Amino acid sequence: MAPQAIISQLIGLLLLPVFCLGAVFEDFRELPRQDYDFIVIGGGTAGNVVANRLSEDSKISVLVLEAGGSNEGIFESTVPGLYYQLPGSRVDWNYTALSGPGNLTFPYTRGFVLGGSSSINWMAYTRGSSDDWDRYAALTRDPGWSWDNMQTFIRMNEHFTQPSDRHDTTGEFDPSAHGFYGINSVSLSGYRHKFEDLLIKASQADGSEFPFVLDYNAGNQLGIGWAQSTILNGMRSSSATSYLGPDFIGRPNLHVLLHSHVTHVLPTHSKSTSFHTVEFSQDDGATLHTVNATKEIVLCSGTIGTPQLLMNSGIGDSDALVTLGIQPLIHLPSVGQNLTEQPTIAYPWVVNDSDSDLDGVITSNATLVEAFTRKWNDSRTGPFVDPPITAFGWFRLPDSSPIFERFADPSAGPNTAHVEWAVLNSGLVIPFNSTNKSVSLSPIVVSPASRGSITLTSSDPFDHPIINLNLLSSDFDIYALREGLRNITRFIETNVDIFDGFLVSSGISRDINVTTATDEELEAYIRKNVGITLHIVGTAGMSPKGASWGVVDPDLRVKGAKGLRVVDASVFPRVPAGHTMSPTYLIAERGAHLIKTSWDLDGVQDEDEA
Ligand SMILES: Cc1cc2nc3c(=O)[nH]c(=O)nc-3n(C[C@H](O)[C@H](O)[C@H](O)COP(=O)(O)OP(=O)(O)OC[C@H]3O[C@@H](n4cnc5c(N)ncnc54)[C@H](O)[C@@H]3O)c2cc1C
Ligand SMILES: *[C@@H]1O[C@H](CO)[C@@H](O)[C@H](O)[C@H]1NC(C)=O
Ligand SMILES: *[C@@H]1O[C@H](CO)[C@@H](O)[C@H](O)[C@H]1NC(C)=O
Ligand SMILES: *[C@@H]1O[C@H](CO)[C@@H](O)[C@H](O)[C@H]1NC(C)=O
Ligand SMILES: *[C@@H]1O[C@H](CO)[C@@H](O)[C@H](O)[C@H]1NC(C)=O
Ligand SMILES: *[C@@H]1O[C@H](CO)[C@@H](O)[C@H](O)[C@H]1NC(C)=O
Ligand SMILES: *[C@@H]1O[C@H](CO)[C@@H](O)[C@H](O)[C@H]1NC(C)=O
Ligand SMILES: *[C@@H]1O[C@H](CO)[C@@H](O)[C@H](O)[C@H]1NC(C)=O
Ligand SMILES: *[C@@H]1O[C@H](CO)[C@@H](O)[C@H](O)[C@H]1NC(C)=O
Ligand SMILES: *[C@@H]1O[C@H](CO)[C@@H](O)[C@H](O)[C@H]1NC(C)=O
Ligand SMILES: *[C@@H]1O[C@H](CO)[C@@H](O)[C@H](O)[C@H]1NC(C)=O
Ligand SMILES: *[C@@H]1O[C@H](CO)[C@@H](O)[C@H](O)[C@H]1NC(C)=O
Repeated sequence: MAPQAIISQLIGLLLLPVFCLGAVFEDFRELPRQDYDFIVIGGGTAGNVVANRLSEDSKISVLVLEAGGSNEGIFESTVPGLYYQLPGSRVDWNYTALSGPGNLTFPYTRGFVLGGSSSINWMAYTRGSSDDWDRYAALTRDPGWSWDNMQTFIRMNEHFTQPSDRHDTTGEFDPSAHGFYGINSVSLSGYRHKFEDLLIKASQADGSEFPFVLDYNAGNQLGIGWAQSTILNGMRSSSATSYLGPDFIGRPNLHVLLHSHVTHVLPTHSKSTSFHTVEFSQDDGATLHTVNATKEIVLCSGTIGTPQLLMNSGIGDSDALVTLGIQPLIHLPSVGQNLTEQPTIAYPWVVNDSDSDLDGVITSNATLVEAFTRKWNDSRTGPFVDPPITAFGWFRLPDSSPIFERFADPSAGPNTAHVEWAVLNSGLVIPFNSTNKSVSLSPIVVSPASRGSITLTSSDPFDHPIINLNLLSSDFDIYALREGLRNITRFIETNVDIFDGFLVSSGISRDINVTTATDEELEAYIRKNVGITLHIVGTAGMSPKGASWGVVDPDLRVKGAKGLRVVDASVFPRVPAGHTMSPTYLIAERGAHLIKTSWDLDGVQDEDEA
């Protein structure tokens, strides 16, 4: 044990009557114990919720093992407007994903830092529709996942706050749909750009074909509305800053060990399906350490990390595991399957420079970045108090669409979008070089029909798995993107009186004119230019107890195993029609509740008390 570790432990003993201070550790030798009631693998979006809720019972000890480092002091993670500097940096796992057929690859970002992807994402707060949650209840045969029942967990998670500019938010959201006493902060934008103002104006115009929705998080999401984001007073609110914030991290029964890459969960003996030991390394596998969970191991490593860890530990398709030289323990062929990503097409519009207050940020205008950063530093004002998305639209294909003669509707129901319109005020997604300033209004298929997979290339837990997004493998997804592009174009062109003088021309007009292009031309354009949204889910999906498919039961226990649960974005059996962070927080709040209930821990919330 390092001398300074001994000294710090002695100080802890002298200052507190308890055996040790709750703390964040860097080195396993500092860890005060080798067994805990619960071990949480991955201190990400979901993992920190689970750690917080389980450690509410002071008799229970909880350890979080996180592969990445601390989020403290990472300035670009704190300033919402610097979101674009995070992918590809030291806080990114730097995965590469295959698009599927064709040879496109994408850098696929995941958070490698405490807070996981909530420390590096775009902060959009979208819960999906009421239909989405009711479908989870139906698919898993557990009414506990229904929209009505999830209201308790929404309230436990959400702390709705004033935006940093303290503007009057009347008419911008529905207060009755929000929680004001939860842990993670949410707010409306604190800086108004011209684009979202015009967009909302157009949606509110008399007889608009694309109407305004007061609050897309209230169950029925359809329409155009103001964005809500996980932000507190102009700063990112992540699971690390909130669920492991100052009010909680001092709990003596909660320990976090950073720089700890978990390699395997180990059974109690070689043929057992009961898991109590977690193996990890702090030096890329040169030295392995173990810790034991006396109650449960909770996998919270995300849609890539969780199926990878399960397969490396012998839980997956047995034949495939044998081929890789991994001893199979539990045959669960659904592990890694049903991966779902939401495809998009970047649709930028050139804006009239003399009329714009915009960015230039992504095109690396260092002068502007510095000016906006100074403004943020000095007064928490200016464009950097917000993430890139400041308004949304959510729309369905009409029931009469010919595509439904060939495909069952992949959406969860009539309140639920097939296509999202995402408003971006910076030119991040601009697909051509241009010095012109731009905004974008891009379609995303939020209820896609294509499915991909995560598979291993070897038995080495440090090798990246194959992430096959399999985008556009269903014609439904192409159809929805095509109609999304057409509707966005029509929306702007029919509101020319509102947008005129600001939106000058469509950014993709150099390659294609959306208004005049044939179906085939648009399809070819979409195939060539398809983009990703980083919303993968589904690789350890929930299914009913006893089902022949799926990875976890509705209480999130791994099928056929003892002592193992999965609580993260991999358990969604279908992708919610929205961005996936808030739904993951909700899975984690209920997941923690289920664990606490089964072990009869203190502080179990009554599910009916919304
Ligand atoms: C750049 C980006 C932008 C996004 N924008 C939005 C948005 O605006 N709104 C939205 O709703 N969603 C957004 N998403 C998606 C959203 O962030 C994720 O769906 C969600 O955070 C997933 O949560 P999780 O708990 O499943 O995984 P994560 O939050 O990724 O947590 C997994 C954690 O496990 C750790 N881990 C993994 N493997 C191991 C291992 N073997 N050993 C130890 N630790 C391990 C990781 O380091 C990480 O900390 C975005 C994602 C990205 C990457
Ligand atoms: C963890 O459990 C294993 C298997 O039961 C046991 O061999 C080992 O000694 C335990 N380790 C600790 C630190 O308790
Ligand atoms: C990701 O790439 C960046 C840039 O090369 C690097 O600094 C970082 O360490 C990489 N992340 C990981 C987890 O290796
Ligand atoms: C993918 O790349 C391979 C080898 O580089 C090439 O043979 C193949 O034609 C490509 N496929 C497509 C669909 O572009
Ligand atoms: C994928 O999920 C669907 C439910 O959405 C299920 O019917 C199917 O069996 C799953 N496939 C696999 C391989 O698990
Ligand atoms: C950066 O932005 C500033 C302020 O709008 C502008 O004066 C300058 O020309 C821009 N620089 C470049 C390289 O575009
Ligand atoms: C803003 O503050 C950060 C951190 O305090 C500092 O590193 C940076 O230089 C400041 N930037 C400007 C432009 O003031
Ligand atoms: C496109 O617009 C039409 C006409 O308003 C509407 O019926 C349809 O649902 C819209 N589709 C999408 C994907 O927005
Ligand atoms: C984009 O920029 C590169 C390098 O600056 C240049 O070679 C290329 O011609 C540009 N392309 C377009 C379409 O302007
Ligand atoms: C881009 O800006 C230049 C001058 O700044 C202008 O001549 C050109 O027409 C603009 N392009 C578009 C597509 O508006
Ligand atoms: C750009 O905006 C200015 C100021 O509002 C206006 O005078 C000008 O006509 C606009 N230019 C275009 C091309 O719409
Ligand atoms: C696309 O074509 C339509 C119809 O010919 C035309 O009115 C419109 O200006 C064109 N759009 C662009 C961006 O060139």
